[in-house]
Amino acid sequence: MVTRGRTEEVIPSAARLLGSLRDLGYDFVNAVADIVDNSVSAGATEVHVVLHPAGTDSWVRVADNGSGMAGATITEAMRLGTGQREYSSDELGKFGLGLKTASLSQARCITIASRTHPARAVIDCRRLDLDAIAASDRWEIEVPAAADRPETVVGPLKSGPGTVVLWDRLDRVLGRNDPFGGWSHRHLLKLAERLDQHLGMVFGRFLTGEARRLFPLTLTVNGTKVEAWDPFCLDERTEHLPPHELRVGGGLVRYRPYVLPPQDDFRDDETWRRASGPNQWNRQQGLYIYRADRMIQSGGWSWLRGYDEHIKLARAAVEFWPDLDEAFEINVAKTRVKLPEELRDQLKPLVTMLTRRADDRYRKSKPRRDNPAPPIPPRPTARNDANRPADRPRDPGTGGRPAETPQRPPGGQGTSGNVSESGGSAAAPAGRVLEETARTLGYGTALESIRDELRRRHPEVARDLGW
Ligand SMILES: Nc1ncnc2c1ncn2[C@@H]1O[C@H](COP(=O)(O)OP(=O)(O)OP(=O)(O)O)[C@@H](O)[C@H]1O
Ligand SMILES: [Mg+2]
Repeated sequence: MVTRGRTEEVIPSAARLLGSLRDLGYDFVNAVADIVDNSVSAGATEVHVVLHPAGTDSWVRVADNGSGMAGATITEAMRLGTGQREYSSDELGKFGLGLKTASLSQARCITIASRTHPARAVIDCRRLDLDAIAASDRWEIEVPAAADRPETVVGPLKSGPGTVVLWDRLDRVLGRNDPFGGWSHRHLLKLAERLDQHLGMVFGRFLTGEARRLFPLTLTVNGTKVEAWDPFCLDERTEHLPPHELRVGGGLVRYRPYVLPPQDDFRDDETWRRASGPNQWNRQQGLYIYRADRMIQSGGWSWLRGYDEHIKLARAAVEFWPDLDEAFEINVAKTRVKLPEELRDQLKPLVTMLTRRADDRYRKSKPRRDNPAPPIPPRPTARNDANRPADRPRDPGTGGRPAETPQRPPGGQGTSGNVSESGGSAAAPAGRVLEETARTLGYGTALESIRDELRRRHPEVARDLGW
């Protein structure tokens, strides 16, 4: 039997740890999105974000009309790693950290006010002040007296239940620049614009009501309604490729691939420009990864392949639920996931099929005089293709690591075996295309039998197919 020796409790230094937790990888828009996650989980149908520029007194506020919290619940919510409750299967929270880590990544002071009862106007309030904790080195929050609750924090709760999160002393937002100068003012207004775009993208499915909720969500930034951004332009002439349900461990991942229309096939140029997305057409190609309908990754190929102008019309939704959080290794800021190996193997042929279709649609589109497409180069022969040195591009959307599949060099010299307009391809023997397609549709074994039989009975046909 193993006997345990004497134990000692080692309490972390509040001042040091809270200081370090400010750097978990949030930027401003991701930090606000993490606060909005909590509002959505609390059943809010309205969330209003305000960025108020006022020199050193500038503040940012997120106010919702969700279920609210009583005083003791706010105190518990302020605990790092709060874990007093079970998460439901479609909840956006996971770590018990976001409220604190997201807020502190931007501000030195967080005040929370909340009201739970529609008929009783009781408002509870708590404050976490980083400077006070730095001085005391104790895990303490304040319970502000009624007179010390500014209108900014209690005002939105006068009409009904909900929660207000107020950030002030915005050292990380305003940086070292003169907070009273025009720069800070302009910076906050610019952040409001970026935030509007980001929230429209991340919570798009909640804004349209597509997410499984009772009521759609209304979000505003500085009073302006946030519009949902649909990466797949489903109201346009987008081509829907067959969806797939992929098994990963004990859970399911849904894959929905789309080929978006080229510019001429959009209803107008403004819609086409908006479809381009925050990072523009080329950088927005790829996978859109959703966790419980909330977007975590917007584009990029997660090292399955590199970016390419010719496949910029390819976008696909990859959807998973919190039961697969471990497999996807989601980070605290909910800005990054890693595709499980098991999923990557299943996605590779599907992504190849999608990008071929996108390439085909791109090449068939009429080049515009005001936005000419690069000339289509002669297709490489199988021999010179094999002789090409593999070129390992960087994939900035996924952290700048080399992409696994070589990206086509500028000018569009294809190396990835595109199906030509007549259906054949010098770079990819027809047999290989057939094999990939059969595997994708679940007929891989049947095609292997056909291939073996062809080799026996009609070797010349098998040779033509590259078998
Ligand atoms: N706007 C809100 N309305 C109601 N309850 C809230 C609100 N914000 C936070 N809470 C409560 O506070 C708790 C802690 O929030 P926090 O964001 O720190 O962690 P989490 O959401 O549980 O997990 P994660 O770290 O993944 O975000 C939440 O679980 C929730 O119970
Ligand atoms: Mg949270």
